[in-house]
Amino acid sequence: MSTFDIRDMRVKYKDRTEAFTEDQLVSDEPIGQFTAWFEEMKKCPDIIEPNAMCLATANRNGIPSARMVLLKGYGPEGFKFFTNYESRKGCDLAENPQASLMFYWPPFNRQVRIEGKVEKVPDSESVEYFNKRPISSRVSAIISEQSKLVPSRDYLIKAANDVISRGEVERPPFWGGFVLHHEYVEFWQGQSDRLHDRIIYKKNDVKWDILRLAP
Ligand SMILES: Cc1cc2nc3c(=O)[nH]c(=O)nc-3n(C[C@H](O)[C@H](O)[C@H](O)COP(=O)(O)O)c2cc1C
Repeated sequence: MSTFDIRDMRVKYKDRTEAFTEDQLVSDEPIGQFTAWFEEMKKCPDIIEPNAMCLATANRNGIPSARMVLLKGYGPEGFKFFTNYESRKGCDLAENPQASLMFYWPPFNRQVRIEGKVEKVPDSESVEYFNKRPISSRVSAIISEQSKLVPSRDYLIKAANDVISRGEVERPPFWGGFVLHHEYVEFWQGQSDRLHDRIIYKKNDVKWDILRLAP
């Protein structure tokens, strides 16, 4: 039995930032503030996929599940990602369209949490993006009954080779985008003294309330 105690694992955050205070906000709505942070993350060589985010869903019984997906667009209408509509997440969202997204960018000790209602993007947008993807990604999306059981890896390879040999690489109707219409966005800035900063934008009719939460 190891004497290592996981409770002692504790990283001292680098003092990269000063306190994150309300006067540093660049916008009175969350997309402007998200853009400011996201642009900084894109420039950081230590962040390999700044657009990787955790998507949490729950089914009609409230059973939660979370997984990573890639942000593929954002703006005033919301945050977009693409997936298989018949996957576990797709089924959850069909039953319960409320979801949550979370970015964690360790080199900056930053987290962003986003919550709101999700809906499918128009089919034309899914087709346009599907056709921009590398051929291997398109083939994988076509053959993968995402989240279903498969007998083996060889089974998937054979299915992929069959699609390639038939040359059929159109977007299947079960694959496409979702947009999460944000109603709550929290910007978390970790601090070495553990007095972390949490500034939230909460939708209030047509405007956004800007508030602070205890860490
Ligand atoms: C960094 C990262 C990015 C990912 N991006 C996507 C994505 O954009 N879309 C997707 O369907 N799955 C993506 N995945 C795979 C999902 O995490 C997950 O395994 C898959 O979508 C099935 O999830 P589900 O069974 O909960 O529906 C990604 C995984 C990682 C680790």
